[in-house]
Amino acid sequence: MPTTDPAVMPSVAAESAVVPRSAVPAAPPDDPCGSIPPSQGGIEPQQVAAGGPPGLLDRRTVLRGSAIAAAGLGAPWLLAGSASDHRPARPAQMAALSAPPPDAAVVTALDLRLSGAGAIRGVLRELHDRLHRLGPRAETVTALGAALFDRAGLGGQRPRQLTAMPEFVGDVLDPARCHGDLLLSIGADSADAAAAATRAVLDGLTGVTPKWTMTGARAENGTQHGRGVARNAFGFVEGHGNPDGGSVDDVVTVRADQDEPAWAVGGSYQVVRIIQFATTLWDEDPIPLQERIIGRRRDGRWLDGTDAGGEPGYAADPAGDVTPLESHVRLANPRRPGGARPQLLRRGYGFRGAAPTGEPETAGRPEEGLLFISYQRDLDAGFAGVQRRLAGEQLARYTLTVGGGYYFVPAAGPDWWGAKLFA
Ligand code: HEM
Repeated sequence: MPTTDPAVMPSVAAESAVVPRSAVPAAPPDDPCGSIPPSQGGIEPQQVAAGGPPGLLDRRTVLRGSAIAAAGLGAPWLLAGSASDHRPARPAQMAALSAPPPDAAVVTALDLRLSGAGAIRGVLRELHDRLHRLGPRAETVTALGAALFDRAGLGGQRPRQLTAMPEFVGDVLDPARCHGDLLLSIGADSADAAAAATRAVLDGLTGVTPKWTMTGARAENGTQHGRGVARNAFGFVEGHGNPDGGSVDDVVTVRADQDEPAWAVGGSYQVVRIIQFATTLWDEDPIPLQERIIGRRRDGRWLDGTDAGGEPGYAADPAGDVTPLESHVRLANPRRPGGARPQLLRRGYGFRGAAPTGEPETAGRPEEGLLFISYQRDLDAGFAGVQRRLAGEQLARYTLTVGGGYYFVPAAGPDWWGAKLFA
């Protein structure tokens, strides 16, 4: 049964990887994960080579900068998810997003081995049919990467904002864990069930090659104040700042007036970020300091005492004495009068990966962190705008983004979800 008791504290995850800075690979010179100008929050290539802006060195010293041994299919991901109850039927594609996330998910990026609209349509149709056969026990979301449109000769149909995910300040992206022509997310009541469903779908599917995969779980997965919440590996409850169930659709669903290709209306931009956590470094800091870095208490209450489901009194705290101006939540959503709220739905999973072998500093210490996943109808009003505001935040000392991508989730219609694009 998913828990709804915010007072239950987790055992905060144990150890994170420790490596010398020399073990952290610099971003490749040709910047395979894309780049955005520094004026928009991007990072100069030389900043990456030199270690990035001040303040980023610490966590890079304690975090592995790439997948190292953890990436790759078949890695024995092991996660501590909460026990689950009998979940209701899980709708697929967009309809799934207003429901609380399942306890666990396997996310797999796939590259297509063929080109041309007809051939790709055939693969996607087969994928759709296999997902359909899973039935209601799995929640499935299939999203398309930017490169798929060129490969299919459908460049003119690419959603306007769909590019390769750019590199943001502080990222050390591993090309092997970025992008993919397709991103398949299969959620279920346990990591084992999600993995079994993923195998059932992908085994024998021709025309695709798995590129990277992550297994995630939502510890203490539950619902509070109409929002799905779960505890992350830093011991903090996440999800309170999301739109509530009734306003999810407005935030995530592409509208007809957005100047997007007609087939994309009703779909959603999906952002995935593989974010490693330096839990050892984090755990060394006292909880009150951690709470000032986040800007909420571990159970979600605001620092001014407001209940987790309420609105904080930032107006009475203009200098940030109670909730620091540079805290994660205040940077993410400053709540200035007249300012727009961030337009995104966060639906992430914690991960705990295989322990690397061969390197004395990291051997036996599993990679762990947050598989950040967000949905939005506009990337700038959603993820990208928030991520730019978060540049250089104190929390970045303890985290490192090593992979992920931008994708687009086609809406499910009366026909299969690729029908309009390949009409
Ligand atoms: C780096 C790892 C991250 C951690 C540990 C983290 C943790 C948290 C926590 C504990 C909260 C407060 C509870 C909540 O409102 O859900 C929160 C809020 C939030 N986070 Fe993050 N987060 C991370 C990354 C991100 C990223 C990458 C984004 C988007 C670019 C983001 C956007 C937000 C937003 C929009 C809020 C709600 C702010 C509000 O409305 O008050 N977070 N995060």
